[in-house]
Amino acid sequence: MASKPEAPAQEVPPAADPDAPTTAPAKQSVDPWNVAGEVGDDGKVKAIDYNKLVEEFGTKLIEDALLQRFEQVTGHKPHRFMRRQIVFSQRDLEVILDRHEKGEPFFLYTGRGPSSDSMHIGHTQIFDFCKWLQDVFDVPLVIMLTDDEKFLFSEKRTVEEVIGYSQENCRDIISIGFDPEKTFIFSDYEFMGGAFYRNVTRFAKLVTYNTARAVFGFDESSNIGKIHFTSIQGATAFATTFPHIFGEDEKRVASIPCLIPCAIDQDPYFRLTRDCAARLKYAKPSLIHSRFLDALQGPGSKMSASIDSSAIFMKDTPKQIKDKINKYAFSGGQETAELQREKGGDPAVDVSYQYLQFFMDDDEELRKIGQDYKEGKLLTGELKAICIKYLQEYVAAFQERRTKATDDRVKLFMSVRPLKWEGNPKVKRTVPLTGESSTIGEGGEGGDGKLTKNQLKKIEKEKAIAAKKAAKAAEKEASKGNAS
Ligand code: TRP
Repeated sequence: MASKPEAPAQEVPPAADPDAPTTAPAKQSVDPWNVAGEVGDDGKVKAIDYNKLVEEFGTKLIEDALLQRFEQVTGHKPHRFMRRQIVFSQRDLEVILDRHEKGEPFFLYTGRGPSSDSMHIGHTQIFDFCKWLQDVFDVPLVIMLTDDEKFLFSEKRTVEEVIGYSQENCRDIISIGFDPEKTFIFSDYEFMGGAFYRNVTRFAKLVTYNTARAVFGFDESSNIGKIHFTSIQGATAFATTFPHIFGEDEKRVASIPCLIPCAIDQDPYFRLTRDCAARLKYAKPSLIHSRFLDALQGPGSKMSASIDSSAIFMKDTPKQIKDKINKYAFSGGQETAELQREKGGDPAVDVSYQYLQFFMDDDEELRKIGQDYKEGKLLTGELKAICIKYLQEYVAAFQERRTKATDDRVKLFMSVRPLKWEGNPKVKRTVPLTGESSTIGEGGEGGDGKLTKNQLKKIEKEKAIAAKKAAKAAEKEASKGNAS
């Protein structure tokens, strides 16, 4: 049974943040607070033109040669997001691949603005991708929860409210399946201070009001917290912000870059960060950008946590998922089964097919579904049923892992502690990658970067002590939490 969606295409949910200014623009507009496709003469919202964004932002498309290089360096077939241009754009990804090839350290950095306590499948995609990258590269990952941003950019939210969201979002993020030995999750409100704050002010000093206005479109009536916030999101891209992970030796650590997987709307922050990095003599961050997961209502918008009918939430039941897809998912099919068989459907605008691009790993199977749909062999109801099955399985697996994301686990991931990672297994390392290597550069090193046995031992010992300390602190915190 081919059914047309109940909601017409132009009824696109407003921007993700209900507090953001929402004057419906005629032109496509994408910035960290608003995502809206161009409104055509017929009043309908068009799909986001990602090639145009690449041009506008000055990033590079991820081309086949780079994917081949990725496979050659990592020994892994590129993730389906990369194969399908869901992750489609980059800045200096080659730099990271070169480093990985040589066994030189780098880290992954991503984040989330905790604007509500319910994450949806649009939010989890980038974290799934980060987990995959972390498994491939075996490097540390820092995840920033910008509770301060969500406070500053909202008329209504209170500090207490956004801090609560940070905790609940952290629980969701852990449920992606991250390894606590390699992953540090922090709330800006909690972690700000020390080395982080030093970098925030170094950053802030380099950015004038004029620049912030040009990059983000602020004006004289924007509160000053918004203008300053960019230094906080930016400073997180510097390895020296995390002495507990990379060590205290700022000079050495300054050269460790990060790779930032993010949705393309975050690029303005990091364009600015790359400028500042160069001026601070810090390594410039590299970026890899994804497109958005469409709202159920169709291309030209993204899922919104504040509009229930636009999104599949990670806490939805199998029945809710089924009902939402059947009722709301925009269909590229024909009005009736007869027409569908005769004329076929359009997978390019069909939301169920779009979602399968994100969730179905098998390229051949996906191709066949698209082909059958186009040729009218597959009806909308049948396509929806496949999509429903994938989403139900995805959400159920997540919910199962979430039952294990206890308060203690949240505390552990958010505790300031050393991490452990190995990097490229093919490279014999002369310098350890872990942070407690402040002894590097001290005498007895022989000038070739090799550590003596004693130095290695000392590092191992320091690491063990730090890990014990952190575990104890987390335990103590946890028991406090349980008592109250
Ligand atoms: N500003 C982002 C948001 O509102 C959160 C964020 C902070 C982020 N740092 C990041 C996202 C790095 C991607 C990469 O969601």
